[in-house]
Amino acid sequence: MNIQSIPEHELARLREKAKEVAGSRDDYSSFYTELLTRRLNGEPLQYIEEYIPFYSIQVNVDTRALIPRPETEFLIQIIKENIKSPKRFLDIGTGSGCIALMLKKLFPESSVDAVDISEAALELAVENSNINGLEVNFYTSDLLSNIEKTDFDCIVANLPYIPSKQLEKLDSEVIDHEPLVALDGGEDGLLYISRLIDQIEQKEIADMMLFLEIDETHGKALLDRLRNWTEVRVEKDLAERDRYIVARR
Ligand SMILES: C[S@@+](CC[C@H](N)C(=O)[O-])C[C@H]1O[C@@H](n2cnc3c(N)ncnc32)[C@H](O)[C@@H]1O
Repeated sequence: MNIQSIPEHELARLREKAKEVAGSRDDYSSFYTELLTRRLNGEPLQYIEEYIPFYSIQVNVDTRALIPRPETEFLIQIIKENIKSPKRFLDIGTGSGCIALMLKKLFPESSVDAVDISEAALELAVENSNINGLEVNFYTSDLLSNIEKTDFDCIVANLPYIPSKQLEKLDSEVIDHEPLVALDGGEDGLLYISRLIDQIEQKEIADMMLFLEIDETHGKALLDRLRNWTEVRVEKDLAERDRYIVARR
């Protein structure tokens, strides 16, 4: 990457960040050079800025967790339109905590639990919970394995869904900086989503809705896998891609 390849709107954001870091000190230009160098080395702008707006909250982001994507904000919108008076949410693979925290903000009367297999991501999620003053119970867990409760009425998951062989095709900005545990979905990309569905069935969690963010190529396989559930459908994102599963059990 060279400076000509960085669009002006990104340079403007780097200047803003340098001003924020420099504060009242007069060494703004050395901070700007440092931030620009990081960007030239391919580091995502959001990690350099250290926070990102997500729906109507702001979350801190760093290499401990995936940078929340606009598609995931749209998942929140889908949940909001489909759930009327939720009591108990569970967010699987919470990362920065963005989904869990935003659900708590939208539904303050509900209880929200969230899990991740990554201790580092959970540390960041707890920080984001404190910054936003939103109470979520965070647990370290491989999917549902450490979760004893079964009375959730809404389970949400944005789990890794990129097939392992396709990881090398990802932008270096993603694969060199964001955590592999947040991206690698196993051989067919469905390893964790399939295991989660198996666990929900084995634990006999019922009277609930499931919301999944998925790869656009996985809709048909998941509709087939969920054929014994009810009201199963694929929802599209704003670009008309099949990016979400909504199902009831
Ligand atoms: C695609 S990221 C999503 C992060 C966040 N929910 C978001 O939407 O930005 C997937 C997350 O799932 C977590 N994860 C991966 N395997 C897991 C597992 N077996 N059990 C629980 N969490 C897992 C990763 O650590 C990562 O934080």
